[in-house]
Amino acid sequence: MTYEEVRNRAREMMIPRCYVCPECNGRGPCVGQVPGFGGMGASRGFQANYDSLAAVQLNSRVVHGVHVPDTSIDFFGTKISMPVIAAPTGGTTYNMGGKLTEAEFVNAICGGCNQAGTLGAVADGIGDPLDVYEKRLQTLKEHGYKAIVGLKPRLQKDIIERMRLAEQAGIIALTIDLDSAGRASRATKGQTVEPKTFEQLKELVKASKLPLLFKGIMTPDEAELCVKAGAAGIVVSNHGGRTLADTPGTAAVLPKIADVVNGRCFIMVDGTLARGTDVEKYLGLGAQCTLAGRHFVRAAHGGLADGVALFANKIKNELAVAMVLTGAQTVKDINRNMVVIPD
Ligand SMILES: Cc1cc2nc3c(=O)[nH]c(=O)nc-3n(C[C@H](O)[C@H](O)[C@H](O)COP(=O)(O)O)c2cc1C
Repeated sequence: MTYEEVRNRAREMMIPRCYVCPECNGRGPCVGQVPGFGGMGASRGFQANYDSLAAVQLNSRVVHGVHVPDTSIDFFGTKISMPVIAAPTGGTTYNMGGKLTEAEFVNAICGGCNQAGTLGAVADGIGDPLDVYEKRLQTLKEHGYKAIVGLKPRLQKDIIERMRLAEQAGIIALTIDLDSAGRASRATKGQTVEPKTFEQLKELVKASKLPLLFKGIMTPDEAELCVKAGAAGIVVSNHGGRTLADTPGTAAVLPKIADVVNGRCFIMVDGTLARGTDVEKYLGLGAQCTLAGRHFVRAAHGGLADGVALFANKIKNELAVAMVLTGAQTVKDINRNMVVIPD
């Protein structure tokens, strides 16, 4: 199976949700499709992710002794093959076209990522009742997958209930996408999502032994609040441009956030990551690890676990080449001198 074959099959599986465009830049027929695969409004936040990442360049460095770089990292005590993990993505029916069952999707994402030596992800979709989330975790447990879990900013008690279930499923870390707070109209009847106060963030950090990362952080002041609340980390993310329309791109806001955090918590980032060079850019801007969303979802639809592993290995190999050509022996060696940040 080639990557092109995976993409062609994904096109058959996903149209009209996703058209598998030559470049996934928020400018395809998916514009404005949320639910679906697009971004909010005119998809400008989605486009800003792509454009801000494209505007960052890499400094080529070829006078050094790096031959075989090490792309692996330590992710909260688990060694993973590269600083790329599947982003939590929910809604196989309303977002992806419904051609894969929940179990097939979890098997594809988590099985494929684990095959490639990295972590999968399980979501807590905003419209999903508790039993759908439980079934996803059950699939994780049955296969012993290594994964992260993405929770919604539900009521505190509902989050804590889902944290306990995730702990029992042996997951590695939790994210809460705080930026889903404005999507209350899409929550299942009787369920709530809400913005969180600083006190509530502290309560959530204390509520679980698992590392907790707040996802959807786009400004240095909120990154500072997450650090002060004791978060294990943050995910710099605008949710793929799917929550608030017209946000800046993640690559544009990341450097100032990284400066403020200054090593006090783990920084992840996402947004249109498609290639190994994209990983190197995000790390050069200050992240320690990345998430990839739509590309993993497409790979799952186009080739199940093998398609996901193919995409993950493609990124890993491209990252290794980029590390040789910028002179980074290990992922920790990637730094801001390796990127050119636009004014
Ligand atoms: C179809 C779809 C469903 C998503 N569902 C979730 C979710 O349930 N929880 C979450 O934290 N983020 C969710 N996201 C956001 C992703 O985790 C990620 O932040 C975003 O897609 C940016 O990455 P990308 O540009 O690589 O797709 C979803 C994104 C997509 C496209």
